[in-house]
Amino acid sequence: MRLRPHLAGYTDPMQASDRVFLAAQHDGYLWDVDDNRFIDFSSGWATNNVGHAPAEIVEEAASVLREFGAVCCTPGFVPFIRYELAEKLLATFPAHLQRVALCATGTEAVEAALKFMRAATGRPNVLTTYTNFHGFSYAGLAAGPFEASWRDTATQAIPYYLYTPYATCRRCPHRLDYPACDLWCVEVIEEYLLRHQASPETVAGIIVEPVQGEAGVWVPPKEYLPRLERLCRKYGWLLCVDEVECGFGRCGRMWAFESSGVSPDLVIVGKGIGGSLLPLAAVVGTPDVMDRRVVWGSTYAGQPAACAAAIKALERLQRDGLVERSARLGAAGLDRLRHLCESSTIVGDVRGQGLFLGLELVNDQDGRMASPALAHQVYDECLSHGVCLLYLTVTPTVRIAPPLDIPEDLFFRGLGIIEDVVQGLLHDTNQA
Ligand SMILES: Cc1ncc(COP(=O)(O)O)c(C=O)c1O
Repeated sequence: MRLRPHLAGYTDPMQASDRVFLAAQHDGYLWDVDDNRFIDFSSGWATNNVGHAPAEIVEEAASVLREFGAVCCTPGFVPFIRYELAEKLLATFPAHLQRVALCATGTEAVEAALKFMRAATGRPNVLTTYTNFHGFSYAGLAAGPFEASWRDTATQAIPYYLYTPYATCRRCPHRLDYPACDLWCVEVIEEYLLRHQASPETVAGIIVEPVQGEAGVWVPPKEYLPRLERLCRKYGWLLCVDEVECGFGRCGRMWAFESSGVSPDLVIVGKGIGGSLLPLAAVVGTPDVMDRRVVWGSTYAGQPAACAAAIKALERLQRDGLVERSARLGAAGLDRLRHLCESSTIVGDVRGQGLFLGLELVNDQDGRMASPALAHQVYDECLSHGVCLLYLTVTPTVRIAPPLDIPEDLFFRGLGIIEDVVQGLLHDTNQA
């Protein structure tokens, strides 16, 4: 059943023209109130990494909830489970990262990380990319401008960001080709930004997504993050990676930055770490940076039940080999989608890592003219045929981000439906 968003007084932040009324989600499927089921390639916006409400995690969280309810900053009292979680979370990171600040949402963690960066360096500017996404708060929108219309909301209020293009090589804004470009998107920082916009000693550091999610699953070339890191070390900047969407096994590694070999000073995590159940996020970083006195925190940060869910989720991810599964299934999926890209003129590109894949839709023979309209059609048709993709109206890319435990046959069945939909649209386009 589809509803107009305002009918019941509820205002939808995504301003969608209509919505499916969700009744339940389990076993790799979403169910609507009319009992239609959809293969879930969206995972609650890339959040249900460990599956839909896994029973063991629900039980653990429920028992902690029964014991504590909500613990909202009771003066002087700290639930021990926060320390347990910090220890278990840190065990998944390189040894130089030794501090964890718990937050309730990814956006809150982004805000805290920005404060740590500025406090630790005493410098105001933060370098980011035009197509990063860091949440919808003022600072999140300023740090991750993504869309000009979104950025308008934030930039009058929040200065001190420097913007540079991400390594969106296929859509290089400088019209250069990789690798001949020698990563001009990084070179331009020293050549132009540091000469004409801000001197290096005013810069606190770089915030970057190791794999860009909202912008359309951009996996940068392997030298990209190391080159950014080199700038950080040269100028005394901090490297902060935002893993809220691409982390926690999503990209076939525990953390997406691992494939680049960099040693970030700060890592922002969120979404899936709440065990597909409860809001939880964190900033993980070095003592040098995070032992600074910074004003951060919130009433619902680090709820005991959310911590319990996170501990169980970490266990499940490791015990059930979900990270390796993400890498293996994702690679097979990408391979299959590459055939679709070769055989279809409306798919300009397929890309991704692990179970985080994207199909970019185009409407010209050269495969260059991005088509958000076609992406919308693919999303809509897939929904009509029982597959729910991850999709943001402003981009030409539809995304595939199923729960990491999706049954293998369901995953490939879903890909088959996407192939059929694309072939059908191609046929319609040719007929027109
Ligand atoms: C990379 C990244 N950072 C931060 C956020 C904000 O997280 P939240 O929506 O939990 O506040 C998101 C949300 O999609 C994200 O993708």
